[in-house]
Amino acid sequence: YMRHNSPQWLEGQKVVVTAGGTVERIDPVRYISNDSSGQMGYAMARAASFYGADVTLISTKRDLKVPHNITAVYVDSAVEMQQKLNKYFSDTNYVVMAAAVSDYRVLNRSDQKIKKEAGSDNSLQLDLAVNPDILATLGKEKKNQVLIGFAAETENLSEYASGKLRKKNANWIIANDVSNKGIGFNSTHNEVLVIGADGTYEEISMRSKLNVSLKIWRIILDPNHTTN
Ligand code: CTP
Ligand code: CA
Repeated sequence: YMRHNSPQWLEGQKVVVTAGGTVERIDPVRYISNDSSGQMGYAMARAASFYGADVTLISTKRDLKVPHNITAVYVDSAVEMQQKLNKYFSDTNYVVMAAAVSDYRVLNRSDQKIKKEAGSDNSLQLDLAVNPDILATLGKEKKNQVLIGFAAETENLSEYASGKLRKKNANWIIANDVSNKGIGFNSTHNEVLVIGADGTYEEISMRSKLNVSLKIWRIILDPNHTTN
């Protein structure tokens, strides 16, 4: 696409997008993580850039292509992601939390590779600590920033997603039915429900993640979006 031909609705606006599943180390060769291809975050970043925004990606995915006009910062864990976001937050207009943040991290991560012989009873116990809720924390601290969260659900989509919108004090939640027809995680396409704190409730039918993202931004930026 030609950036020059696109409506520059986000001109002069700073957008930070998180993408990918966070990586929580067990030891130097093992980790726990979440399913996420990172593609929805990259598409949201690309779409924001298309509309003229100054975009920074905070990503756990080092192998995805980053458009030349988008700055990428790489992190692994949820705590690192939160630290990076905190550096940008006061000077940011929109935060898009597309990352699949691990809800837990390993408490006593080992600096050395854990030997499998270590456990005598054929088991290994890992103590997990709850990670900070990055979006909820930003929701408490926000001034004029617009917060856009994602919710992947396998049931009660709109109920759970609106619950997250409220609890995290987000402005928007993009809800994804991941029980659905093999779409979501690894697919190039997606179908979402856009829920706004202003009462907006709009479905975006199946299309490429970039086209879904362009539509999401249009809904968010439209001063008279349809509500029902
Ligand atoms: N999120 C976050 N920090 C976390 C967990 C989630 O910022 N520790 C963000 C995600 O990036 C997403 C939104 O919160 O934008 C919803 O994430 P989700 O995992 O669906 O919600 P949870 O509150 O973790 O609830 P649960 O996993 O129990 O459904
Ligand atoms: Ca979660």
